Amino acid sequence: MSNYHIKHLEEYYQVYRKSVRNPEAFWEEIAEEHFVWRKRWDTVLSWDFKKPEIKWFEGAKLNITENCLDRHLPTRGEKTAIIFEPNNPEEEALHITYRQLHERVCRMANVLLDHGVKKGDRVCIYLPMIPELSVALLACARIGAIHSVVFAGFSSHALSTRINDSDCKIVLTSDGSFRGNKAIDLKGIVDKALEACPGVANVLVVNRTGSDIHMEPTRDKWLQPLLDEAYADCVAEIMDAEDPLFILYTSGSTGTPKGMVHTTAGYMVYTAYTFKNVFQYTENDVYWCTADIGWITGHSYIVYGPLANGATTLMFEGVPSYPDFGRFWEVVEKHKVNQFYTAPTAIRALAKENLEYVEKYDLSSLKVLGSVGEPINEEAWHWYNNNVGKKNSPIVDTWWQTETGGIMITPIPYVTPTTPTYATLPFIGIQPALMDENAKEVKGNQVEGRLCVKFPWPSIARTIWGNHDRYRDTYFSAYENMYFTGDGALRDAVGYYRITGRVDDVIIVSGHNLGTAPIEDAINEHPAVAESAIVGFPHDVKGNALYGYVILKETGESRDRDNLRKEINQQITEHVGPIAKLDKIQFVNGLPKTRSGKIMRRILRKIASNDTSNLGDTSTLLNPEIVQEIMDNSL
Ligand code: PRX
Repeated sequence: MSNYHIKHLEEYYQVYRKSVRNPEAFWEEIAEEHFVWRKRWDTVLSWDFKKPEIKWFEGAKLNITENCLDRHLPTRGEKTAIIFEPNNPEEEALHITYRQLHERVCRMANVLLDHGVKKGDRVCIYLPMIPELSVALLACARIGAIHSVVFAGFSSHALSTRINDSDCKIVLTSDGSFRGNKAIDLKGIVDKALEACPGVANVLVVNRTGSDIHMEPTRDKWLQPLLDEAYADCVAEIMDAEDPLFILYTSGSTGTPKGMVHTTAGYMVYTAYTFKNVFQYTENDVYWCTADIGWITGHSYIVYGPLANGATTLMFEGVPSYPDFGRFWEVVEKHKVNQFYTAPTAIRALAKENLEYVEKYDLSSLKVLGSVGEPINEEAWHWYNNNVGKKNSPIVDTWWQTETGGIMITPIPYVTPTTPTYATLPFIGIQPALMDENAKEVKGNQVEGRLCVKFPWPSIARTIWGNHDRYRDTYFSAYENMYFTGDGALRDAVGYYRITGRVDDVIIVSGHNLGTAPIEDAINEHPAVAESAIVGFPHDVKGNALYGYVILKETGESRDRDNLRKEINQQITEHVGPIAKLDKIQFVNGLPKTRSGKIMRRILRKIASNDTSNLGDTSTLLNPEIVQEIMDNSL
């Protein structure tokens, strides 16, 4: 039987070879043995990276919620599916069994049906990390609606752009959200967003904070009474393998956010299979991923991957610093967490605090530690390994993307020997390639290049919602017959991969992918601003922070600079969200531009990073004199 659970390094190599020699046979076997299908597929895979068109398990019929819920009921009905740990440690944690989750999902699915939501309709979900969020995703999947979760830290402008892009008619939200000692007025943000979204007919509101909010008559309804009245069972809509499951927006280097579309069967198979192996999940383990479900990590590794394996998955509403910096470790002790998956930015923030916060708690339940979202630097890796893992829990540095749906390059704990800062080896079925400037593949070891993938894997995003051309141009045009990731990487002497960072204008701040374009647009809307450019610079907690170069209009010249800085950051908070605020703002008289008018960010990045010894070739600049001036006044 099965290659479903890999336990030894030789087995990894053997299964890996099998998966790349005959991917169709390999994935067919995994799909057949570990999932429930209403109808078997006709074709395992058809693909063409030129079009691009990728289809897995075509012809198959299924519902992902039957795989995540119904099939567990006979054997795991009373097992905890979700542990909910509230923001406030005084509030009791909830343990939701598979049976209860099934019932909750069915009720919510029926409420959606009652509001006219049909298969293929888009549902916007703007909720904090409370159980209703997971339930909402699954309820959409139950009836074949496409969920579009927007991270509840995004601003009203960001929310309205996403609602309109995918034409959502209904929004699920809450009155507010708790984050540490703050309560955030989510409903107010939704109300403001909806001023720009005439297509939204219904807003269903979860009561979380009990705050006094405005309810728009006819449009807004409290969700709980509707759930209470709804029928507790709901027949699953039978979906095609390639029917969209969800849209999730991610930043691009230019333009509006890209609504990545993930489809049903391949996504399910790949997220489940990676979850099982990358976390070495065994039946009674408690698994905790600290990401927000507003990001792909939460979709794949809080909701779908764990539930497809019948796992117990912990959802945490709060923040690592509340009520103090020991909160993560308190939760690990309290729920005896076995697998813990977080972001380097959180590790770096906690590593700055007193070690007592970690040492106070019993972390002996931990077996696997995960890292995701950005490169983990050596210092953070060692801190995590020594103080959290006590050198006893392997760290899996998992590289992947919103677009890839699941983990792509990663150690398998207890199988792959780890090396700090290396994501190590491709996961089963993944065929990475490094490309040089001449678009040729760099073979062999001890080489560096741009990271691509040569062959489709089941959970690759299939398109960008409403813009297939952009999908092709962004991912499949740079290198022939390759998916281009936008990242640089090196392959060392033993074939381990180390991700070196983005090679485009996407900046990863605290693990959040931020495109420069929407932030610059937000700044440029300030009445005193003529033009701006954003770059990243190294930051010891956030990984990267943002540095803005701003040219003022003549009318802005007389304004107080500190006030302007505050206003610019306010503008960004409103348009994008607080995560995109700038750490430094330098007012400049010009920006270094090429003759074709392109801002040379490479130079700005070097100045922001205080790395001006070698600025590289500036001969193509239209205005080379501006470089010295910017350097002289840099912050
Ligand atoms: O640059 C890589 C970085 O995060 C990008 C993808 O961001 P996003 O779509 O938001 O998904 C994040 C969670 C999967 C990648 O292109 N990245 C992600 N994980 C790692 C990483 N960089 C280095 N090491 C990682 N483990």
